Amino acid sequence: MTHRIALLPGDGVGPEVTEQARRVVDALGLAVEWTELPWGSAFFHTNGRMMAEDWEEVLRDHDAVLLGAIGDPSVPDHESLWGSILLVRQKLDLWANERPARLLEGIPCPLAGRGPADVDMLFVRENTEGEYAGIGGRSHRGLPIEVGIETSVFTRTGVERVVRHAFSLAAKRRGVLTSATKSNASRFGYVLWDEVVEEVAADFPGVRVDRVLVDALAARMVRDPGSLDVVVASNLFADILTDLAAAIQGGMGMAASANIAPGHDVPGVFEPVHGSAPDIAGQGIANPVGAIWSTSLMLDHLGELDAARRVMRALESVCRDGPRTRDIGGAASTREVGDAVVALV
Ligand code: NAI
Ligand code: MG
Repeated sequence: MTHRIALLPGDGVGPEVTEQARRVVDALGLAVEWTELPWGSAFFHTNGRMMAEDWEEVLRDHDAVLLGAIGDPSVPDHESLWGSILLVRQKLDLWANERPARLLEGIPCPLAGRGPADVDMLFVRENTEGEYAGIGGRSHRGLPIEVGIETSVFTRTGVERVVRHAFSLAAKRRGVLTSATKSNASRFGYVLWDEVVEEVAADFPGVRVDRVLVDALAARMVRDPGSLDVVVASNLFADILTDLAAAIQGGMGMAASANIAPGHDVPGVFEPVHGSAPDIAGQGIANPVGAIWSTSLMLDHLGELDAARRVMRALESVCRDGPRTRDIGGAASTREVGDAVVALV
């Protein structure tokens, strides 16, 4: 069976890292058909929109989407993100965002005395509602009484499906699920979330549940990352926590993610966690590991379990033995790292 993959390189370092990710997938010798989509900030400047008008049909016509990053200083970030990735997550209802945060051997960890045995977390981020539901508004613009309102939305359906998915992942790992909310200060949405966690827990007697306030969890990730297995959190909280997790696993360039709707026949969107990194774009020095790791998540999702493992093994060995880009202590270019992974797969 041929896998039809939409490749959306996007802006900044997006094209640099996805080029290497694509080469790695091509080196596996699977039947893959790529459709490259020119969407992003340059597309916006010529077409007045971030993606083609028929974007949804185009993406739904593929088995998976591999995305680089979107965002450029020439377009306001809320426009570029809401015109692309946030819109895609909501319209395709990709409600689970899985983000593994594992420290690979050979990668420097910023936490003193910690190594690969201490850092193996899997974040499951609610991906369609919560604080990024897109509900709110502004009025009295420019006046001293100007107001901006941003409403968080938590539905029982939305919370339950992501919590249940996180439980099922924890059951297959070390059997610990940590749920992060802020249900002491926020009295409604996160309290509903906590209640749903309690209810779903009854269906997973083999999983130990740990309910933690998100601020305390941030501290615990630094002090005792080994106590964390699967972490489930809202859209905003997991967004923040996974940048911290990325730092703990060696930096933004290391982190991978999968936007999926488990159990539904909709293409997943696989992307490194990092953004377009305008500060280093065009220099050929961006770390492609997060993007390549994302292809392993993608292959896993496409049922190519052996290929997914091969990519991961190759990445692990390149991280251990080099070459590495400068953000993780090496001096190699994006392409040299890609070459090394390609050679191994
Ligand atoms: P960023 O993740 O692009 O960069 C943060 C820091 O990490 C920078 O110092 C950058 O050089 C470094 N970094 C990022 N990726 C790296 C890589 N592969 N290798 C080495 N270093 C890397 O976040 P920032 O600067 O907040 O956002 C830049 C733009 O990206 C903005 O327009 C933002 O809206 C957008 N963005 C897009 C995302 C997406 O497409 N999913 C996600 C996050 C941000
Ligand atoms: Mg983020």
